[in-house]
Amino acid sequence: MFVFKAAVVGAGTMGGEIAQVIASSGVPVVLKDVKQDFVETGLRKAEEVTRAQYARLVEKEKVTQEQADTQLEEITGRITGTTEYEGFGDVDFVVEAVPERMPIKQAVFEELDEVTPGHAILASNTSSLAVTEMADATSRPDRVVGFHFFYPASMMRLIEVVEGEETSEETLQAATTFAQQIRKTPIRCGEGPGFVVNRILISAVSEVWRVTDEQGLDVKEVDELIQQSGTAPMGPFYLTDLLGLDTVLHVAEHLNDSHGDRFFVSPAMKELVEAGDLGQKTGKGFYDHG
Ligand SMILES: NC(=O)c1ccc[n+]([C@@H]2O[C@H](COP(=O)([O-])OP(=O)(O)OC[C@H]3O[C@@H](n4cnc5c(N)ncnc54)[C@H](O)[C@@H]3O)[C@@H](O)[C@H]2O)c1
Repeated sequence: MFVFKAAVVGAGTMGGEIAQVIASSGVPVVLKDVKQDFVETGLRKAEEVTRAQYARLVEKEKVTQEQADTQLEEITGRITGTTEYEGFGDVDFVVEAVPERMPIKQAVFEELDEVTPGHAILASNTSSLAVTEMADATSRPDRVVGFHFFYPASMMRLIEVVEGEETSEETLQAATTFAQQIRKTPIRCGEGPGFVVNRILISAVSEVWRVTDEQGLDVKEVDELIQQSGTAPMGPFYLTDLLGLDTVLHVAEHLNDSHGDRFFVSPAMKELVEAGDLGQKTGKGFYDHG
């Protein structure tokens, strides 16, 4: 199935950039959130990312400034914002990117089932939840699939195409092909908690969280040492601030519920989430983002 038009639901940390990736490959995309402000933040993000990508190409003399300006206009022009599912009536593929909470996801899937054409594939960007439970909220469980981008979506190549219990082979093929159409590298995986990448990543980062908590270490010093050692481009606490503390906490809790104490849930992170300090998106997390 070729995707002629797509939609993204949720214009937060991931949604704006996912819409940008889709629009960059030439496919028109509708971006929906619950408030106009949030939609605009997503649209702005898509514009910023495109501008930065083309500024680099101009600097490397791969395109002229005039070509860059035209591309910026064309790419951002393919993204339409809505708060009301306007423009969902003729989409072929939807990526849901709302908060990592099953009740929110199920409500969105139920709505998507009503507003999209019957042939449309409903995909979730979930980091760890069961696609099958989202599919249960629809009348087309065979057309529901996981489609997991990584942060930042405009740069990271991988997409995990996640098979739910009722996902059809046709849907898996179509999602794999769409990932390639938007110039990503798909891998197929089962819907075990954390799928492949987050299960590995969180198991490693868990140990850093655990030791920091047990020994009362300073998170900034831990980050600095990890970065200086060259083990990772940035420390795990700073990375968590960028990803969103609520999202990371839910993934860690889900892995802990499923696999026990070898996945650590950081009390410090939990406290920050309870206080509404979710990282860069709220201006404060482990760090102050001013
Ligand atoms: N943050 C990451 O690094 C990352 C990486 C990969 C996957 N994910 C997954 O992507 C999904 C979204 O994560 P995020 O970090 O972008 O979250 P976020 O909190 O930054 O953004 C979620 C957006 O969804 C909107 N929203 C809530 N209910 C909605 C509804 N009913 N309809 C439309 N929009 C609605 C919110 O207003 C918000 O703008 C989660 O499932 C998460 O696990 C996140």
